[in-house]
Amino acid sequence: MKKFLIAGNWKMFTNVFESKILVETLLAEISKKEMHTTVLVCPPFTSLCGVAEIIKDTDLKLGAQNCHFEEKGAFTGEVSPQMLQFLGCEYIIIGHSERRTHFKEDDEIISKKLSAILDLGLTPILCIGETFEQRMNNLTNDILTNQIEKAFENIKKAHIKKVVIAYEPVWAIGTGISATSEQAQETHSWIKDFISSKYEANREDLTVLYGGSMNDKNCHELLSLADVDGGLIGGASLNAETFATIIENAEKISKI
Ligand code: 13P
Repeated sequence: MKKFLIAGNWKMFTNVFESKILVETLLAEISKKEMHTTVLVCPPFTSLCGVAEIIKDTDLKLGAQNCHFEEKGAFTGEVSPQMLQFLGCEYIIIGHSERRTHFKEDDEIISKKLSAILDLGLTPILCIGETFEQRMNNLTNDILTNQIEKAFENIKKAHIKKVVIAYEPVWAIGTGISATSEQAQETHSWIKDFISSKYEANREDLTVLYGGSMNDKNCHELLSLADVDGGLIGGASLNAETFATIIENAEKISKI
């Protein structure tokens, strides 16, 4: 029985009041059932405390969208993994394409964040993905190889299987155009083959999420693919009903 991870990346949407309403509505939608799927919400930093309070006695998991790699220090405006752990975060997204592009996060910084999160016992969600131009030039696997190798440079072998990979083709993020089933399956399968052979990890232990315009309409097809272990969902996670529909689909597929 496949165990999906369905994660909502709320990005820079929802103030603390809106976040609380969103998570309360989501809980009302999903809390009636026993769930096999792991459901994660990643609100903005300012909403973490408020959301943590609401979900503390539920199965919903809490994650952050970014962190610094140091525990503490003179790093104005930054938040450490330890601070996030203290709030109840179990997951931290790193290397999102929006951070790579707008905040010039490079592979070295991402690698340091990955190690810091793993050393603390939290689960990193490492985002990787190619641009449209790179895909058109048949560079997808080269780009992913580079992103994985650089991120994994300093991590312990035992930690490999703890890293959740989110394959997010940059051209699919926020565009309404998701990867096709063929593209998603082919790339997810390649990622698992690459990591399992290069780092001697068990292929079955690896978790690869798909992200990029996943919604209530296309989730069934995408989640039904052999090597898609869940979704990292942006826009569609901001509507509780839509997000709940995606979770329901994951539940149904996991029982097939
Ligand atoms: P959308 O689902 O809005 O395309 O965003 C995907 C994403 O970036 C999740 O991290």
